[in-house]
Amino acid sequence: MDRMSRDTFAPDGANPLCRLSLEQLRRRTSMKWRTYPADVLPLWVAEMDVLLAEPVRRAITDAVALGDTGYPAGTAYAEALAGFARARWGWDGLAVERTAIVPDVMLGIVEMLKLVSGPSDPVILNCPVYPPFYQFIESMGRPIVEAPLDRDGRIDAAVLREAFRQADQRADRPVYLLCSPHNPTGTVHTAAELTHVAHLARTHGVRVVADEIHAPIVAAGASFVPYLSVPGAENGLSLISASKAWNLAGLKAALAIAGPAAADDLAGLPEEVSHGPSHVGIIAHTAALRDGGDWLDAVLSGLDDNRRLLAGLLAEHLPAIGYAPAQATYLAWLDCRNLGLGDDPAEVFLQRGRVALNSGVAFGTGGAGFVRMNLATSPELITEAVRRMAAALA
Ligand SMILES: Cc1ncc(COP(=O)(O)O)c(C=O)c1O
Repeated sequence: MDRMSRDTFAPDGANPLCRLSLEQLRRRTSMKWRTYPADVLPLWVAEMDVLLAEPVRRAITDAVALGDTGYPAGTAYAEALAGFARARWGWDGLAVERTAIVPDVMLGIVEMLKLVSGPSDPVILNCPVYPPFYQFIESMGRPIVEAPLDRDGRIDAAVLREAFRQADQRADRPVYLLCSPHNPTGTVHTAAELTHVAHLARTHGVRVVADEIHAPIVAAGASFVPYLSVPGAENGLSLISASKAWNLAGLKAALAIAGPAAADDLAGLPEEVSHGPSHVGIIAHTAALRDGGDWLDAVLSGLDDNRRLLAGLLAEHLPAIGYAPAQATYLAWLDCRNLGLGDDPAEVFLQRGRVALNSGVAFGTGGAGFVRMNLATSPELITEAVRRMAAALA
């Protein structure tokens, strides 16, 4: 039932999202392409349908050609991120000596939580949010406190204050796990919002761990603000990786960054954590942040186009779906509550339309009736996905 074939595929050289045909993508063996049967069009898990940025491909192949596949050493990854942060976000405060390499962002979050809180301390989340936040925290045995985003997908200061206040009363060392930019809504938190978060956290003795994995992926006109750059955030910790923006999830490496007043906490990171990141992964992530800016800009421009495309397609074929193009991430958070498909419309789109989207239910309170669509693909596949969704309802 795939409409795309090699014959109809016309690669657009300038847009990295248009370089691979469906036939090529189906040869991939990663989660996005192998979880569902071959007649399902997968626009779910956050993998990108791109070839590697040329500087990244070259760095990896050079390392392989040299047999440079041993253990990691040095601070090149942190230096590359510091340069990227300076150039993209105008932030000069990323000190290489206050960073540590961790295997990936999720394991980095687990380690940061262990550093700044105890085994029974609660973790506060803004739901709906990236499902593994729940899975990883629950598997640590930590209680989760949900502080739902407001109707516009923004942090609700009053709700957050109340969650902090209650957590402060009940626990010694509560933690707030901030998702910035936010997955799935793509909300880019403003400097004012983050400054207020830092103020609330200080007031209630809550430590902040910020997951900033989507930070490089912003829409035209949006500006990402690093949490550690705002006043009052000095005792915060953040996690960043090149894995989302350059599609490097399979090349494990991420960075934990401490604000000046969290340096001692980060220094307590157990030595064995540094055993997880891959040396080749670090080489790839470093090349992405240092030399992958032009490629990223081309992707960002393609994503702007894809958001516009999706808005037009939904307006034409599925006008009952609510969609506000996101300020960041390559994810689209679709409000399907008016379709009458119940809590889990993704299941209907999968069964009847043969298109795989993420079910909003897994994103916690506020996720029922929503689906998440991955726009890091070609306009052709987005068009086909919407066609299938509409056919599912016909
Ligand atoms: C907010 C967020 N954090 C973490 C991750 C996973 O990162 P990693 O593979 O580095 O653990 C993702 C992946 O999509 C994500 O969206």
